[in-house]
Amino acid sequence: MAGVPGIDADCGGACACATCQVYVDAIWLPLLPPVGEGESSMLEFAANRQDGSRLACQIRLAPNLDGLTVTTPEFQF
Ligand code: FES
Repeated sequence: MAGVPGIDADCGGACACATCQVYVDAIWLPLLPPVGEGESSMLEFAANRQDGSRLACQIRLAPNLDGLTVTTPEFQF
């Protein structure tokens, strides 16, 4: 919804497309909640999944995540 280049988010955050995949920098991973079952299932379909892959729509931002750094895949599908 913020129009970030490289995050397509085709399903609008419903955890149903995996086109919002981002690579979370390793130092931030311990601060994120664990990958849920639905997110894990969708990441199976994500292109170029890597360690640190998360679906951006499933990361609830909070003050402790201020400054969270992610990179985007070269393509989303
Ligand atoms: S926007 Fe579709 S899974 Fe995140």
